[in-house]
Amino acid sequence: MNVFSKKVGFIGAGNMASAIISGMITAGFEPKNIIASAPTKSHLKSLSDTFGINTSTDNEDVYKDSEIVIFAVKPHKMNIVLEEFNKKTHPKDVLIISLAAGLKIINIEKYLPSGQRIIRAMPNTPSSIREGVTAICQNKYATINDQENAETLFLSVGEVHHLQEQEMDIFTALIGSGPAYVFYLIESLLESASKMKMEEKSKKDMIASMIAGSARLAYEEDSPLVLRKNVTSPGGVTERAIEEFEKNNLKKTILKAIEEAINKSKELGEN
Ligand SMILES: NC(=O)c1ccc[n+]([C@@H]2O[C@H](COP(=O)([O-])OP(=O)(O)OC[C@H]3O[C@@H](n4cnc5c(N)ncnc54)[C@H](OP(=O)(O)O)[C@@H]3O)[C@@H](O)[C@H]2O)c1
Repeated sequence: MNVFSKKVGFIGAGNMASAIISGMITAGFEPKNIIASAPTKSHLKSLSDTFGINTSTDNEDVYKDSEIVIFAVKPHKMNIVLEEFNKKTHPKDVLIISLAAGLKIINIEKYLPSGQRIIRAMPNTPSSIREGVTAICQNKYATINDQENAETLFLSVGEVHHLQEQEMDIFTALIGSGPAYVFYLIESLLESASKMKMEEKSKKDMIASMIAGSARLAYEEDSPLVLRKNVTSPGGVTERAIEEFEKNNLKKTILKAIEEAINKSKELGEN
């Protein structure tokens, strides 16, 4: 059966669930085949009003019918919902997809019957505008068909990469957290523009457009170094700024920051 006609249930109706549901509906999934549950009625109402999907405050309503269950609660709530799911009569018939950052498949398996098909996915926040990048990996019971179904599902919110689970910490530190690094850059550039008389919003949009344009250019050329050199005339304005970056070891700081983020992701996975 085509994934577009499968019944997909979400446990959790927060930022990530809403982003994915929005993308799925735009991509052609039918609202009547989607259900989401969460404790707060008003969050569910906004999802059902916006997308026309089914909602419930009782997770059991999601477990009851769904062929794919996407766990979109915070990682520290995963034990509660997995235990609850395990009480379902035939949980093995269902494909589990976990979004929980840092939670390893082996730690999800502990709560579930042997043979449970599990996919772990790590999307990032631009998924909310269908420009996300998601990594997926799976346990040995997930079939090729399950992997294809998960890929189709996450393609509705951007691009998808199949990784080994041991690569997930690097992916999380680089791509999962990556949008925050870009926003930090935007904040810093905006501070530098404090003496420009333009409205704050226009300045912010101008900087965001510069980053979006540069990112599109980076698709056209294999080497970011070549692109950088093209902007950097000897003795010019850009060169002066790059010299200052180098003097202050910016590259080393970035490498160290990502290394720290990878370590944090590993620590979270171990706990
Ligand atoms: N945001 C990101 O950038 C990002 C990226 C990758 C992965 N993730 C992962 O995605 C997951 C969800 O993150 P998020 O940002 O969407 O969180 P969020 O906005 O806080 O949403 C969490 C949802 O879980 C619901 N919930 C809490 N306890 C529940 C329970 N017992 N049963 C059912 N639902 C319950 C909450 O209900 P209420 O609506 O009632 O509060 C809320 O709707 C996390 O595991 C996170 O690690 C997030």
